[in-house]
Amino acid sequence: MVKKNACIFISGNGSNLRNLIQKSREYNFPINIKLIVSDNPNAKGIIYAKKNNIPILIKNCSYKLFEYQILVSLKKYNISLICLAGYMKIISKDFLNLYKKKIINIHPSLLPKFKGLNTYLRVLREKEKKTGCTVHHVNKHLDGGKIIIKKTFFIANEDNEKILKEKTQKLEYLAYPEAIIRIFRKY
Ligand code: GAR
Repeated sequence: MVKKNACIFISGNGSNLRNLIQKSREYNFPINIKLIVSDNPNAKGIIYAKKNNIPILIKNCSYKLFEYQILVSLKKYNISLICLAGYMKIISKDFLNLYKKKIINIHPSLLPKFKGLNTYLRVLREKEKKTGCTVHHVNKHLDGGKIIIKKTFFIANEDNEKILKEKTQKLEYLAYPEAIIRIFRKY
């Protein structure tokens, strides 16, 4: 199978990154991860890039210049898919105009509910019966692009923020690879 070149953007722990690196080793998984981008020099996820010898671009300048550096690297590595995996910066409109290929994101709620930050707390406060995660295309609207896949679970009475996060992330490790397979099935 001819795999597409992908780039993963992170800001923090990188557990989705780690999961996608593992999946990408499967011969029939449609992407190879050729580049990792972190806007945070202290992101724990950087260790997975280093362990796996994947080139990594780390922000050490203004965000505007960083986005320009990213665009140059995306071209260099012929990247045809960007996966945001816990990337906490908003992709600028200029970037979206210049990078014409696919950008997807994983979000820890059932979109269109609970866009933005502090999702677990808001889910609990609203006394939702269920929650989960969503993988969607990125456009200029925050967490507003076309949905590729959602995965859901029912919230138990005793669930707190920590437990919701654990349960949601467990589903994310299934949802992100499935979403990637889905988008490449269309080619
Ligand atoms: C993930 O749960 C992801 O859904 C969330 O950040 C976490 C990153 O975890 N993303 C957002 O909240 C984006 N708005 P990870 O660094 O361990 O993959």
